[in-house]
Amino acid sequence: MGRKIIVAIDGHSSCGKGTLAKNIARELGYMFIDSGAMYRVVTLYMIRNHFSIKDIIADPSILEDIRISFEINEQGDFYNTHLNGENVEMLIRNMEISKHVSKISTVDVIREFLVRQQRELGKNRGVVMDGRDIGTIVFPDAELKIFMTAQPEVRAQRRYLELTEKGVNADYDEILSNILERDQIDSTRANSPLVQAKDAIALNNTDMTREEQARLALTWAKGVIQAYASE
Ligand code: DC
Repeated sequence: MGRKIIVAIDGHSSCGKGTLAKNIARELGYMFIDSGAMYRVVTLYMIRNHFSIKDIIADPSILEDIRISFEINEQGDFYNTHLNGENVEMLIRNMEISKHVSKISTVDVIREFLVRQQRELGKNRGVVMDGRDIGTIVFPDAELKIFMTAQPEVRAQRRYLELTEKGVNADYDEILSNILERDQIDSTRANSPLVQAKDAIALNNTDMTREEQARLALTWAKGVIQAYASE
């Protein structure tokens, strides 16, 4: 179907960016890339190896030992995040990583290291990437940009349900305060803060189901692809 585009999905923590991005990618036959997972892998690597932010700034070559890849599972329906060949998909989602990742993602050399890889992954287009700076910094020329948000309490409740359904012990208040703290750090950092790109479409999904969001975003994506096809 015509020319392939880049769909950039940015927004606040835990507002369903990944779910929406996966849905669009599946429907369009595009690759889905979770850029937040890449920041989480770096965080995991630093914690495991006892590297502080100061250590990384003093010697950015430490980052060169981190190889991130997305490997499809046996069923062929899910990409697991790998760190140097190890499947760390579950490990990078835990609260310990969530507590440290926003701070670590304020570091310039870490952002440069990851943005370079994200641009490489999208160089042939045909990708849906979600994050905080995809439409502003990573792919300012993305053909479709969506900026997602939802009420913090609603985001915390969804996250709480998701974790408890998986059998993970979760605490609603801890989740809510982590979300608020990450919103604050992500939106106020000096390098690539979370802001809505001028040409992004805002999507507040406080009162929307996943299906409604997917349907709407897919209509936008198909509209953009169609417009390029008839150029
Ligand atoms: O999407 P997530 O919650 O997994 O992202 C984890 C953290 O990584 C988030 O708090 C901020 C950071 N991040 C970023 O700075 N830029 C991105 N493109 C994606 C994530």
